[in-house]
Amino acid sequence: MFSRAVRPTACLARSLSTSTLNNAKVAVLGASGGIGQPLSLLLKNSPLVSHLSLYDIAHTLGVAADLSHIETKAQVTGHMGPDQLDAALKGCDVVVIPAGVPRKPGMTRDDLFTTNATIVATLADACARNCPEAMVCIIANPVNSTIPITSEVMKKHGVYNPNRVFGVTTLDIVRANAFVADLVAECVQSHLCINMIFKSYR
Ligand SMILES: NC(=O)c1ccc[n+]([C@@H]2O[C@H](COP(=O)([O-])OP(=O)(O)OC[C@H]3O[C@@H](n4cnc5c(N)ncnc54)[C@H](O)[C@@H]3O)[C@@H](O)[C@H]2O)c1
Repeated sequence: MFSRAVRPTACLARSLSTSTLNNAKVAVLGASGGIGQPLSLLLKNSPLVSHLSLYDIAHTLGVAADLSHIETKAQVTGHMGPDQLDAALKGCDVVVIPAGVPRKPGMTRDDLFTTNATIVATLADACARNCPEAMVCIIANPVNSTIPITSEVMKKHGVYNPNRVFGVTTLDIVRANAFVADLVAECVQSHLCINMIFKSYR
């Protein structure tokens, strides 16, 4: 894992030229969902994105229309249904995939896997065909299974690059930070273990 982080700077610079960094075409697959909509809003506000391509099987055109009214640089296009998936992905530099179902009461992890594995495999296949060089960021759960699925699909097409497939775990990190912050606040309020916490932070 850490070998990715210590990759030579020159190599990283080659793969992310300045022009690409400032003019990235980014696709969100599952753009109408609970994760997809706020994520697309954040991306629309990024000066690094020149084209935001929104894809979903439902409601995409409305979401795209709303976001296109924000006065930032990214051009927004909406694509709905499998017939428009290839067009959504052509020429993308980055693809983010929150498409899938979240776990509902009564669902097991296996139920979630069965549904989302198929969705992610289909979307990864389209990425491999339309934008094989793109950085693909998987949000759909279970991430520890959807990443290997994506990698295997990429290998099948002969375009797998381990430095370009990512599992997004930011939510876990944010949650962990929030829980620790709550704990610290509680301790500060009750005048307990302040030293201990500050020490463990160093
Ligand atoms: N990695 C993380 O930290 C993290 C955090 C939150 C949620 N998630 C996961 O993200 C996924 C989405 O969560 P959500 O709350 O946005 O769910 P949601 O139901 O609100 O949205 C899912 C979206 O995916 C779309 N979709 C379904 N099948 C599709 C397909 N074949 N192609 C394109 N789009 C499709 C739906 O139409 C919907 O708009 C879930 O699997 C959830 O577990 C991961």
